[in-house]
Amino acid sequence: MVDKQSAIPIYVQIEELLRERIAEGTYPVNSLIPSERDLSAQFGVSRMTVRQALLNLVKEGLLYREKGRGTFVAEEKMEQPLNGLTSFTEDMKARGFVPGTKLIGFSIVQPDAQIAAKLGLDGEASVYKIIRIRYADNTPMAIERSFLPVGLLPELTEEALQGSLYAYIEQQAHLVIGQATQRMEAALAKLDDAEYLQISLPAAVVLIERISMLDDGRPFEVVRSTYRADRYKFISEIGR
Ligand code: GLP
Repeated sequence: MVDKQSAIPIYVQIEELLRERIAEGTYPVNSLIPSERDLSAQFGVSRMTVRQALLNLVKEGLLYREKGRGTFVAEEKMEQPLNGLTSFTEDMKARGFVPGTKLIGFSIVQPDAQIAAKLGLDGEASVYKIIRIRYADNTPMAIERSFLPVGLLPELTEEALQGSLYAYIEQQAHLVIGQATQRMEAALAKLDDAEYLQISLPAAVVLIERISMLDDGRPFEVVRSTYRADRYKFISEIGR
């Protein structure tokens, strides 16, 4: 239990105790945890101290709050490997989730200079601008804004984009996907993205830009993805 003589602050000890209860399944995923009042009685500490511990666990994404209902245990975050050039569909299936897509934008546009340069296109070439919300078992996980040269995939349809883009590229367009460069950064969700992702502001997100190439070196997509920071952690294997 709580050790009041310890050098470790009491709220940190309470965080640890709650973490253990979550890990052991005493408080299962999506269950309501006891109120601040109950927890302060259980631990023999002030409500302020309990509140601090809960706040930290909410910030960390282990707990979430619902107005007027209380504090709940969050689902475990998705571990997204950074090593392989996989598709969203493959990633979800590998983890036992049903992948879903909502296409909210599909148009043919002239790319701005940055996108054109990244895709190695000259001034004339047009690109598809595709916006998709991606789901795991009906939970929105990410928004993807993709730019692809029309010249490479002249027959791409909205229908094909309801499923896996990579499967379409490989199986319908018979192109071979080679490698990609990714850049990651942290950001705060914008209002429209928060609505798409069903998260309340302020919320942290992870932005990833991927530039992918076919095996012959031709770039085929620039994708700017916005991932929910409360649902993802990123993992890479590193050696020395
Ligand atoms: C990932 C990548 C995107 C890529 C997408 C393809 O999410 N971040 O850059 O376009 O996978 O996924 P799918 O084949 O499921 O459409």
